[in-house]
Parts: sequence; C-alpha cells; structure tokens
Amino acid sequence: VLQLTLAVIKPDAVAHPLISEAVHEKILSNRLLIIRSKILNWTRSDSQNFYTEHSGRFFYQRLVEFMSSGPLRAYILAHEDAIKLWRDLMGPTKVFRARYTMPESIRGLYGLTDTRNTTHGSDSVESAKREMAFFFPEFSVSSWYEQE
Ligand code: CMP
Repeated sequence: VLQLTLAVIKPDAVAHPLISEAVHEKILSNRLLIIRSKILNWTRSDSQNFYTEHSGRFFYQRLVEFMSSGPLRAYILAHEDAIKLWRDLMGPTKVFRARYTMPESIRGLYGLTDTRNTTHGSDSVESAKREMAFFFPEFSVSSWYEQE
C-alpha cells in the first residue's frame, strides 16, 4: 500500500500563482500521486486547532494569523515513502537554513520567513492521519490502508 501524507501550500504561496504552480509541478515531477486536493480558507479557530501543539511557542500568534490570512491549498499525497519524500522536497522549516543547506528545496527557493515558509507536511504516520482527517473529513484513511 502506498503511504499517504498531508501537504499544504500556505497563503504566501497560494497568493502567488507562479509559486503555487511550481510547488504543484514539484509534486508531479517527483511522482507523488494526488489523491485529494482542495482550496479552502481557515478561520482563526481552525488555525488554532490545527497548530495546538505549538500553542506555547513564541511564534504561535503570528502563525495562527498567517494561516487564516488567505486561501490554503491542501493535498493528500501518496507514494511509497510519501511523508519523508515530501518533507525532503520542502527542506528545513527555517528559511535561513533552507536557503543555505537546501537552496533547491521548496522553502529554500520560495520561503519568505520562518513562519511564511510556503508549505507544510506531516511529520509522522500519526500526524498524517490526524491532519488528513482535519482537512478531508470525508476521506477514509483507514479504508485506504485496508486495501492491498
Ligand atoms: P509547519 O511545518 O507548518 O509547522 C509549524 C509552523 O510553525 C512552521 O511550519 C512554521 O510556519 C512555523 N514556525 C516554526 N518554527 C518557527 C519559528 N522559529 N519562527 C516562526 N515560525 C515558526
């Protein structure tokens, strides 16, 4: 069975058609399969709930504001190694590190700041399940993994 992950193009990149198109192309050229895709807007409380694990961090307020500031594009992606592959394509969270260590990564190329860092990707199988359910409540992750 192919592994699933949740990928998000954040408002900084959705607002820029050339960048969101380049990210979409990266998905396709790396043979990640697009299982679901949609554009949506978050309320502040969606943003707070999704990022609740960061609620004590110094960047939480700005993250919540940013993620509810404009449209998001969310994907469920499939690949044998989807979680790691997508995270490798994104590069490091911090834009300075991304620029220097992985300049060809998505964040290396397009990240604006540590908060406005172009994309999100699940970091584990467990968070992928939670995050896919958050964005695509009608999608049954368990029946995907029961196929075979
Ligand atoms: P993401 O992969 O969506 O997960 C948490 C987000 O918090 C992260 O990307 C960034 O947008 C933001 N973030 C993480 N670390 C920092 C930081 N040091 N400063 C500002 N924003 C951060």
